[in-house]
Amino acid sequence: MSTAATAIRMFDYVEQYAAIQGEILAALQSVLASGSLILGPRVQAFEENFGRFLGEPGYAVGVGNGTDALAIALGALKIGPGDEVITVSNTAIPTVSAIRMAGATPVFCEIDRHSLLMDLTDAEARITARTKAIVPVHLFGNAVDMPRLMQIAQRHALAVVEDCAQSCGTTWQGRPTGTFGDVGCFSFYPTKNLGAYGDGGLCFTRRKELADAMRQIRVHGRGKAYYAEREGVNSRLDELQAAILEVKLRYLRDYLAKRRAIARMYHEHLAPGVVRPRVERAADHSYHLFVIASRQRDQIIERFKQEEIGFGIHYPTPIHRMSGYEFLGYRAGALPITERAATEVLSLPCYPELSLEAVRRVCSAVNDVVGKYA
Ligand SMILES: Cc1ncc(COP(=O)(O)O)c(C=O)c1O
Repeated sequence: MSTAATAIRMFDYVEQYAAIQGEILAALQSVLASGSLILGPRVQAFEENFGRFLGEPGYAVGVGNGTDALAIALGALKIGPGDEVITVSNTAIPTVSAIRMAGATPVFCEIDRHSLLMDLTDAEARITARTKAIVPVHLFGNAVDMPRLMQIAQRHALAVVEDCAQSCGTTWQGRPTGTFGDVGCFSFYPTKNLGAYGDGGLCFTRRKELADAMRQIRVHGRGKAYYAEREGVNSRLDELQAAILEVKLRYLRDYLAKRRAIARMYHEHLAPGVVRPRVERAADHSYHLFVIASRQRDQIIERFKQEEIGFGIHYPTPIHRMSGYEFLGYRAGALPITERAATEVLSLPCYPELSLEAVRRVCSAVNDVVGKYA
C-alpha cells in the first residue's frame, strides 16, 4: 500500500469545527460578554432544546459529564451502599465508576453473543433481594431492547438508569434511548455523537421529583442559597459548553444521518465474512462507533498501522478483569462471552466527516487481511 496515502484518523473534529467556527465563536463571545458563566440562560436553553430533540415529555438536567450524570441519577433514586446494580462488564470504565460513586455494588451480567449488548435473560437471573437498579449500556450507539428490559424491571420493582453516553440519537421503535428508563444519562465528551469542546453531560427523566433532586444534587444539594437540602456534588454544565452544544445541536440530525450513511458504506464494502454486532430491526443505531469482531484483530491492527489507519478497541479489558475492580471478586472465565468479545472487537474510523474514499481504504485493508485467513 502506498505510504503516500493520507492518514485516516479514528476521530477528528477539526473539519467539523471549521464548518461551524463562526457560529461557535459568536456563541462563546456572547457568553463571555453576558456576565453569566455558571448555570445561566444557555444551560437552561440547551436543556430545553435537548429535551425537544428527544421529543418525549420530560426534564433535562445538564451536569458536568456523563459519569456524573449516571452517579447523580442513581443518587436521586436513593441507590447507595448495600444496593446492587446490574450492568455489563464490556463498557467504558465510567459506567462502573459511577455506580461506585453512588456507593452501590456493580453486579455484572453477560452480553448477548450476537449484539454484544446486555443479555436480558442473564440480567434477570442475577437479580437478588439487594438489587435496586439495572444500568443498560447502549454500547456503540446500538440499542438495548428497552421495552423488554422495562418489563423485567417492573416485575422486580427495579429502577432503570440508561447509559446513553454512546447512543445520543439512537432509537428503539422510533423512541429515543434515554426516554424509557427512570433516567437516561448522556455524555457530551468531544468524540460523542453530540460532542462539546470539553466535558459535559445530561440526565433526562419524565419524573419531576427526580429532575428536582438531580438539579439539587448537581449543585451541592442546594435548595435555597447556602443551604443543602440533601447531600450533593459539584457537577455543573458550564455556560460555555452549553453554548457550544446549542450550536451543535442544530446540526445533530445531519451529523447522525452522516454517521448512518458511513455505516451503510461500511456494510456495503466490507466482505460478507467480516463479523459485525447484530442490530435488531427495532433499533436505529446511531454509530457512535462502527465495530467489527475478528480473530485476526492483531493482524488487522498491524495492517492499519502500516497504512496509517486509526482504530480503537472498545474495550480491550472487561471491567471485571481490571485490577481496579478485582475487589468485586470475578475470576477469569466468569463472563466468557464478554471476555471473548474483548479479544475480538475492533472499532473502525467513524465520524460524520469521514470520506467514502477513506471508508473504502479501511474496508479493503480489513477485507484483505480477513480474506487471507478465510
Ligand atoms: C458507555 C459510557 N458510559 C459513560 C461514559 C462517561 O462519560 P464522560 O466521559 O462524559 O464522563 C462514557 C464516555 O466516556 C461511555 O462511553
